[in-house]
Amino acid sequence: MLAGKRILLIIGGGIAAYKAAELIRLIRGQGGAVTPVMTGAAAEFVTPLTVSSLAGEAVHRDLFDLTHEAEIGHIQLSRAADLVVVAPATADLMAKMAAGLANDLASTLLLATDKRVLIAPAMNVRMWHHPATQRNLAQLGADGVLCVGPNAGDMACGEHGLGRMAEPAEILAAITAALADGPLKGRHVLVTSGPTHEPIDPVRYIANRSSGAQGTALAAALRDLGARVTFVTGPATVPPPAGVTVVRVETAREMLAAVEAALPAEAAVFAAAVADWRVANAAGQKMKKDGSGRAPALEFAENPDILATVSKRSAGRPRLVVGFAAETHEVERHATEKRARKGCDWIVANDVSPGTGIMGGTENAVTIIDAGGAEHWERMGKDAVARRLAARIAAALGAD
Ligand code: CTP
Repeated sequence: MLAGKRILLIIGGGIAAYKAAELIRLIRGQGGAVTPVMTGAAAEFVTPLTVSSLAGEAVHRDLFDLTHEAEIGHIQLSRAADLVVVAPATADLMAKMAAGLANDLASTLLLATDKRVLIAPAMNVRMWHHPATQRNLAQLGADGVLCVGPNAGDMACGEHGLGRMAEPAEILAAITAALADGPLKGRHVLVTSGPTHEPIDPVRYIANRSSGAQGTALAAALRDLGARVTFVTGPATVPPPAGVTVVRVETAREMLAAVEAALPAEAAVFAAAVADWRVANAAGQKMKKDGSGRAPALEFAENPDILATVSKRSAGRPRLVVGFAAETHEVERHATEKRARKGCDWIVANDVSPGTGIMGGTENAVTIIDAGGAEHWERMGKDAVARRLAARIAAALGAD
């Protein structure tokens, strides 16, 4: 699948560097070639000899080795590749990339390249959640950098949480997707997915039954058509797809902020089941029973409507805005009204009444409502709905 493709693999300095060895093997197993680059710190974790033996090519480590008067080696090195992959991408490398620093070979290559860049972050959970890292991640997403992982799990440092590098097979899938030729090649599409959680107090929240399955399938289908997908997801039960930039949020207001940070996009699809209301008097501490037998009085405030906010933007509106409508009765009428009210181009309406098993299930029966009227699709798997919808989106955006 990667025959004729060259990957410039930048190995950062983290314990996950050992997984880069397996990644090289997988890339070569698919017929791809690897130009390995190691940072100084990476060579502390895995030896350049291991890396060069697996890659079948010399490891590049020093900026000045490549900067001869006659040839600007680092520029050439970064452009001869079809894709640049950074695995592991440490917090430090991400910060350098976000800031445009170029003070060693790896960062110089990343600044000099004209190719797409895919990062596989790996770091301690606190470093990952630090606002600086999250800011850098958002900046990299806006710069068009693709991201795979990190995953949650036990870490070498003994802590648990998000920060483990994606597995080599997942990174390979993301590489294949990034190199895929398709009608949406290189075009930015935004997808929201999953439920939102609206806190009542630090341990309780209001949620809904969305699994995130339809949004996840859609993001994967758009990726498979070559799109650069930003996937803004609430706490879903299905894992996000590989090969898309994942932005995790909890609340509706966080989702809106993440969506606005991810724009501009050519198309935006709002598959998330966003809570319409949040608890206005959410408690900072766990609510305790006061012995009176009285339940606490929750007050609600309306959440921002993300779909309507984006649809009605005067500047920077995506060319195609697609909303979903979860309805339990009079699906077509309600969805048609919703399309007009929210100002989106299409509404994908589905009947989520309990008997259908659609919400949280694996199948969907949708009606697409656009300016031309209603189009009923037969009941099919959520993956099939996603592929058909992705193809319809690609057709609507047309060729550039
Ligand atoms: N949506 C959104 N932000 C909200 C609520 C909904 O972006 N605060 C989006 C959903 O992602 C979906 C569409 O709006 O694409 C419709 O969601 P739905 O729950 O069906 O509609 P509601 O706005 O909740 O309308 P109603 O309560 O009348 O059914």
